[in-house]
Amino acid sequence: MKKKIIAGNWKMNGDTASATEIVEGILDAANASSHDVVIAPPFVYLSSVAEKISDSKIRLSAQNLADHESGAFTGEISAKMLSDVGCTYVLVGHSERRQMYGETNTVVAQKTALALSNGLTPILCVGETLEERESDQWKDVILAQINAVIEHCGIEIFQETIVAYEPVWAIGTGKSASAEIANEVHEFIYYTLTSKSDKIRPSLKVLYGGSVAADNSAQYMSQTYIDGVLVGGASLKPSVFSEIIRSVE
Ligand code: PGA
Repeated sequence: MKKKIIAGNWKMNGDTASATEIVEGILDAANASSHDVVIAPPFVYLSSVAEKISDSKIRLSAQNLADHESGAFTGEISAKMLSDVGCTYVLVGHSERRQMYGETNTVVAQKTALALSNGLTPILCVGETLEERESDQWKDVILAQINAVIEHCGIEIFQETIVAYEPVWAIGTGKSASAEIANEVHEFIYYTLTSKSDKIRPSLKVLYGGSVAADNSAQYMSQTYIDGVLVGGASLKPSVFSEIIRSVE
């Protein structure tokens, strides 16, 4: 059986004290899990969190990375720096980056390539807006997001790149996609990718994200094409995130 992934995206929340509290509060659940637990704190807390989780099974992710290798890009953080401070994963193309910071499919593809060439596992976020879902464009939107990455990086990178399906209308809204809707999109993503290369079939993982909570995580996890969850708000509450970790069989 493929190991599942339970990832927590803290977004721009918290401080030193709350970062410590979250890590300490999820250690037991994470260490007892037979799946992979990943947390994505804000950049400035990565080093201190890395130290706190060094003896645990929790893995570290960043929430974003620069679209250049290094140089005069004031305020940016490179993939190499993230590896250097202990990250093994990085979120790429989160919808908040795409919508609020103008990240195009091309930029997302460049970032994916940089993550991989610096030893990080990208968690590539894709997903449609409410308008795109209601006008039945979700397949085209997701295909364009995925194809830009394939064109730039090749299909084989999906042997080591995780995909996260995050319908924009379900993020932070409390309106999660039903497990059936999510599974339908996951199946579409799975066959879109595996039809292009057999090699990625055994390892491909597609996570669901969007208002995941303690009372719905098990439903997602039990779907055939869902290999884990990417949790936002609920990952800031250690008892709730622990419950989500424990909900995965
Ligand atoms: P949410 O966020 O769980 O708060 O909806 C999910 C995400 O943006 O990754």
